[in-house]
Amino acid sequence: MKITILTLFPDMFKGVFDESIIKRAIDNKKVSIEIINFRDFTNDPHHKVDDTPYGGGVGMVLACQPIVDALKSCKTKDSKVILLTPAGKVYKESMAYDFAKCEHLILICGHYEGFDERITEYVDMELSIGDYVLTGGEIPAMVLVDSITRLLPGVINEESHLEDSFNKDYMLDYATYTKPEVYDGKRVPEVLLSGDHKKVDEWRKNNAYERTKTRRPDLLEKM
Ligand code: ADE
Repeated sequence: MKITILTLFPDMFKGVFDESIIKRAIDNKKVSIEIINFRDFTNDPHHKVDDTPYGGGVGMVLACQPIVDALKSCKTKDSKVILLTPAGKVYKESMAYDFAKCEHLILICGHYEGFDERITEYVDMELSIGDYVLTGGEIPAMVLVDSITRLLPGVINEESHLEDSFNKDYMLDYATYTKPEVYDGKRVPEVLLSGDHKKVDEWRKNNAYERTKTRRPDLLEKM
């Protein structure tokens, strides 16, 4: 799978894609990531990519031309184009599963006070990573790349995403523990030390349900 990111701040991605599972996925050719600075596509003699909003108001608005031209340079018939914006549909794990099946994703990172609304006519989808406003779409793009890449075949042990929070049954993951059995007076639940797999499975199902009920009752309503 290929992911292209259109951004004004390519350096923001360096550390994130240069470590851990994402780096390994890139090295093992499970995913290729291309970063395009759409400032390189501006026709403005001063390399401007934004302008003041029609109708007045504070801040600058990203113009159509640099973004649309950058998009045209990388888009193919197999591309799915996503614009990151707090005004988009809220991103969910189920979307990560759908995107992991795509050949080519293009993620457009907005910045400043917003973008010219006509840009939305060139994209397939507008996505938000949650109900809060960030300084730009770069961190949301990293969130998408991370959550999608880990689902690609051969990136992590597939059994481990079957157990993830939000997977299929809309439940949070159960609690996990590791050595020592007692830490600062706090014991690991006895059943997990019993070696009885049936009882462990039951405990985990119940624990996942209880955690979901107290922390995210909204998820249970979707079942
Ligand atoms: N840009 C700024 N805030 C955002 C958010 N919450 N999701 C996606 N893109 C954004």
